[in-house]
Amino acid sequence: MTDVTILPTPRSWPAILLPGKDAADPTDLEAAMAAGAFAGLRLALRDLGATGTTAAIGASGLRGRGGAGFSSADKWRAASATPASSRVVVANGYGADPSSATDRVLMERNPYAIIEGLAIAAFAIGADEAIIAVRADAGATIRILKTAVGAAQDAGFVGLDAFGPGHHLDLSVRTVQGAYLLGEETILLKALEGKRGQPEQRPPHPATRGLRGLPTVVHNVQTLATIPWIVVNGPEAFARIGAAECPGTILVQVRGPEASGVAEIPLGTSLRDVAALAGTPTGARKLKAVLVGGPSGGILPPDALDVPYTFAALRAAGAHIGSGSVIVADDRACIVDLARVLTRYCADEACGKTIPCRIGTRRLSEIGDRLAAGTSRAGDLDLLTDLAADIVGSALCDHERLTTLPLVSGMRYFRAELDEHLERGSCPAGVCHPIAMAASATH
Ligand SMILES: Cc1cc2nc3c(=O)[nH]c(=O)nc-3n(C[C@H](O)[C@H](O)[C@H](O)COP(=O)(O)O)c2cc1C
Ligand code: SF4
Repeated sequence: MTDVTILPTPRSWPAILLPGKDAADPTDLEAAMAAGAFAGLRLALRDLGATGTTAAIGASGLRGRGGAGFSSADKWRAASATPASSRVVVANGYGADPSSATDRVLMERNPYAIIEGLAIAAFAIGADEAIIAVRADAGATIRILKTAVGAAQDAGFVGLDAFGPGHHLDLSVRTVQGAYLLGEETILLKALEGKRGQPEQRPPHPATRGLRGLPTVVHNVQTLATIPWIVVNGPEAFARIGAAECPGTILVQVRGPEASGVAEIPLGTSLRDVAALAGTPTGARKLKAVLVGGPSGGILPPDALDVPYTFAALRAAGAHIGSGSVIVADDRACIVDLARVLTRYCADEACGKTIPCRIGTRRLSEIGDRLAAGTSRAGDLDLLTDLAADIVGSALCDHERLTTLPLVSGMRYFRAELDEHLERGSCPAGVCHPIAMAASATH
């Protein structure tokens, strides 16, 4: 099992995703069942039926944990309503952001919750195929998932006649390998079809036309692992946890001066409290910024940290939940340098299919490079604003919009520091080397 620290949290809410199974063998089905595994699937099959199960998930207010926060039940309804000979559910366990271990930790510590969530979703939408998609280089994770799938199959929870005579669920663990973008759902589906990984025009969305043209519900593994808890405890109990508009818990990967690890928190927790799980800079060091959402995340200053950790609130603040990554930076960090490095990474990862993204993200990255090198042109910040506005909404996938976040949030919250680089050619933090050297050479 991967050695990732699970950070302690002040627990006044039920642990849904990581319910303290650390010591046990996560593939031990008997132990998992003693702790309640597959009780939700039994309830769904026996009491709720497909429509009742979808209604329960709708009433719970569950939103997908994969980043966009889309209503899970709406996807299920779209897939169920599409006439098809067969339907598919895909667990997105790709974990695109290499700096976030949230999904890996879940897959390794609670695989049966994901398998059970997949089975419940498949039953609800009438799917006979389910896939757990995971990175090919995640050896330990793959072994755990395959062992757990085998045990669930032997026990009859998935496989032949899993949902009654003639109602099968073929569940497999499939490995995919590619770049950052492969976590995006239409690219992931292409990879599962063995095709080149580039996004597809939407609509149609995968829920109506996905894998091999079949209605396909793609969910992040955390979304799926939440479903059994909702079915067992009821949508009302779930709706009482976390934020009203996006209830439940979510995994975050926090990094800071005192700690680094994964924690399960209720959605709606203030970003300040989430960041504090990693400790706050002390002594001579001051908190300067918190990077929220992974490589394409926003950079928020200390006075913006009271924002609740929800999809909508973070988006309004210029960040996003993304990979669940929350990184605390102290006053040694240079915002221009951070934004530049993140933008370069995202521009390099753009697949190139959409011209505004292919060219626009490159131009954005060049603006960041010029700011850091002290070679900015007059009007660079206006160009940055125009570019960010122009490329948003012209893309095939959300990567383009998200790539603007580091520089745009940097400009929104740390304008004085950007102006120092632009107008005076100096880096207050002394990080952007050509500028720092030029400044010290004059003294
Ligand atoms: C560039 C990019 C990378 C993404 N990477 C992931 C990922 O690694 N894992 C994931 O679950 N969703 C990722 N997503 C979101 C998926 O496209 C999709 O919205 C999600 O898997 C749906 O699951 P949900 O309904 O549980 O949110 C990514 C999106 C984009 C634009
Ligand atoms: S928006 Fe960017 S990453 Fe997405 S399809 Fe277009 S070029 Fe590729």
